[in-house]
This record gives sequence, C-alpha cells and structure tokens, in this order.
Amino acid sequence: MRVLYCGDVVGRSGREVVMEQVPLLRKSMALDFVVVNGENAASGFGITEKICEGFFEAGVDCIVLGNHSFDQKEIMTFMAEDKRIVRPVNYPEGTPGRGAAVYKTPAGKTILIVQVMGRVFMDPLDDPFSGVDRMLNSGKLGQKYDFILVDIHAEATSEKMAMGHYCDGRATAVVGSHQHVPTADAMILPGGTAYQTDAGMCGDYNSVIGMDKEEPLRRFTKKISSSRFNPALGPGTLCGIFIESDDNTGLAKRIEPVRVGGRLHQTRTKLQ
Ligand SMILES: [Fe+2]
Ligand SMILES: [Fe+2]
Repeated sequence: MRVLYCGDVVGRSGREVVMEQVPLLRKSMALDFVVVNGENAASGFGITEKICEGFFEAGVDCIVLGNHSFDQKEIMTFMAEDKRIVRPVNYPEGTPGRGAAVYKTPAGKTILIVQVMGRVFMDPLDDPFSGVDRMLNSGKLGQKYDFILVDIHAEATSEKMAMGHYCDGRATAVVGSHQHVPTADAMILPGGTAYQTDAGMCGDYNSVIGMDKEEPLRRFTKKISSSRFNPALGPGTLCGIFIESDDNTGLAKRIEPVRVGGRLHQTRTKLQ
C-alpha cells in the first residue's frame, strides 16, 4: 500500500497547499490513502466542519488532530459522528470522537489509523504506550490489517523515538507530529516499521512554526504579549511522509519525506 501522511496544516497557507497538492500527489504517486493532521487548520487553532469537508473533497481519507483538537467547539459534534476524524486515543474516557479508526480502501485493503499524544512537556493525559498497545492488540499487521499508522503527537523527540521502537514490527509506520518542523531521520526500524520523528507542518515556513513572526519575536525579546498569534500567510509547503508497505507482511518497504511548494527544499517522491 502507498500512503501519504501530511503534517499539521497551519492556517490558510497550509490549507491552500494541501487542497492544491493532494489531488495531484494522489495521482502522481498512486496513493491508496491520505492522512492529514488538521489540528491547526482553522487560523492555527483547531479545525471546523467546513475545512474537514474541503479536505475530504480534495482526496484526504482521514484527518488526525492533537492538543488543539477541541479549539473550535463546533467540531465536537461533527467528530462524534464522522469516522474520518481521529483525535488522540489517550484523552480521558468520555471525550468526544475516537482515538483510532479502521478504513477499507477502494482496492479492498484494511488500514488502521491510531493517534496518541505524548506527555513530556504536554498535558498530563493517560499513558500513551498502553493506549497504543490496546489498539495494536485489536488485530495483527499482515492479517487483520494491511497497514497500521500510528501518529505520535508530542513535543519530546525522545518520547517519539521510544514510541517508534515500542511499535517496531507491529505497525507499518510511526510518524510524529506537533513540532511543525520536519526531522531528517526517516528510516525503517530493525523490525520493519517506518519511522520519522516529525513530519513537519503544511504551512508558511517564513514564520515561527507557522505563525506570523512579529508576535512570537516580541514575546521572546520583550516578554510582553500584545496580540494573539496569527498564521503566516506566505506560500505554504506541503510537508509530509510517504510510506510504502509490503502487501504480504504489512511492514514498511520504503519511507520518504515529501516537501512540495513554498520555501523548503523540495523533495518529490517519484512513482516507481
Ligand atoms: Fe500543530
Ligand atoms: Fe500540537
């Protein structure tokens, strides 16, 4: 299977590049499934039903979220009903939505998407490792599931790497989100799981992690906040991770970073 994961979409710049590029990449890379992290899609904070619908129309199959899942309150009702939206699995019992979902692709393949949030320098949620374990124990890779993707939404690279190794051999891919800058450690772990600490964001990189530079700079240099954070509005880069799995085992055959548009060095995966 060929899957594209797109990192945190930040504001209009991120939305525009995703809406423009996902239909093209779906075709040129012969993708079976596209996952987008939408936690910052609505002006940097959360996501709305309208934005979700736009992503689905552009060819996105699943939207994952993160610590900004509930910034736009309207999404709670929508995510409770729509199975295509996944929020971290280790939120307290009774939180709206779901932490994992299973999908069938048009080619008849079964894919499990799990999202989990880290706890280091983040809100104190339930144990991310046992949360993921529960989901991985719902069925074996290569048997019940053709592809399993785990999104670890976390601040600490150590916690993300630990999650990668924890899932090694049991998931097709463990990808990181939340940091908004892509890391250069795309690899296949010894057990066959593809891993990258952070996918990076989809947004304007002439910014401070997607936000217009002015206010973050003021806060860093003067320690006084004078306005809210607003997304930077220059051309966006779609920043993501492409993973190809072995159809027999479900393990990863290939992982490649994808960077299209905007300021970042471009890396376009070629169809092979
Ligand atoms: Fe984010
Ligand atoms: Fe986040």
